[in-house]
Amino acid sequence: MPINEPEFEYVRELTRSRAGVVLKEKERFLAEARLTPLAKQNGLGSVSEFIGLLQNGEPNGLHDLALDALLPKDTAFFRDTHPFELLRTHLIRNLEMRRSHENRLRIWCAGCSSGQEPYSIAMVIGRYFSQLLKWDIEIYGTDISTEALEIAQRGSYNKIEVNRGVPSNYLKEFFHSDENNWALNDDLKKVVVFEPLNLCQDWPELEKIDMIFMRNVLEHLTPERRKFILENVRRIIKPDGYLFLGSRETLEESDIGFQMVPAEKSVYFQPTGGF
Ligand SMILES: C[S@@+](CC[C@H](N)C(=O)[O-])C[C@H]1O[C@@H](n2cnc3c(N)ncnc32)[C@H](O)[C@@H]1O
Repeated sequence: MPINEPEFEYVRELTRSRAGVVLKEKERFLAEARLTPLAKQNGLGSVSEFIGLLQNGEPNGLHDLALDALLPKDTAFFRDTHPFELLRTHLIRNLEMRRSHENRLRIWCAGCSSGQEPYSIAMVIGRYFSQLLKWDIEIYGTDISTEALEIAQRGSYNKIEVNRGVPSNYLKEFFHSDENNWALNDDLKKVVVFEPLNLCQDWPELEKIDMIFMRNVLEHLTPERRKFILENVRRIIKPDGYLFLGSRETLEESDIGFQMVPAEKSVYFQPTGGF
């Protein structure tokens, strides 16, 4: 039996209150499918019984596991292609010129899911700008999902995940086979640092960032959380830094402090009055 309206409302409130994520009405069946393995692991016959357990208190961090399971985490290597092309053709070179006096670069993928996005950036740098790997360079990947971060940290992906986006020349250069999977080589892996971070809670003191990828995260969030996050992004991005959102996302008039820059087949955002 599918979960009923009050049960779905309960799980929606769980994702809304803890992560700012609003599950859409059409995601009811998806929510049920995502919770089914947890119900089974806890020896329960149905997702309704599992939700009942959540409603009755906080047994053994089950709410955290349920939240993790419910969040949309779809991702892919080189997702949407164009932003990575733009990194290769223009943006990394621009940053290289502007930061050559300090030899330091900070890139952040906020809501990086299982790591494909930060590793894609690292591969573009490794292939076309390998001189930057001698700089003080860090690519941070953060997410609220511990399950996704564990995969990201392992850096090992199955054939389907790799086929979804990794060009064969990159596969040869940056991966090695690892039993039935493909694992990233250590020299590339070490450029990317993963940390847990809930974007909706108070942000820790972060150093200023040259480029932020926050793609396909804001579209799931409430307007209040979105505003809170963008204000923080504005605070920590360098005045000439670059912000990428997902291809279906844009900034609204109320999101002050950024200007949109159309570039080739892509779009990025920069702080207004920055340089
Ligand atoms: C759809 S995925 C996008 C992954 C990647 N950025 C991409 O575009 O391929 C959204 C990610 O945002 C994360 N997320 C959702 N709410 C979050 C929050 N409040 N704080 C941090 N991460 C969050 C999810 O766990 C998920 O991994």
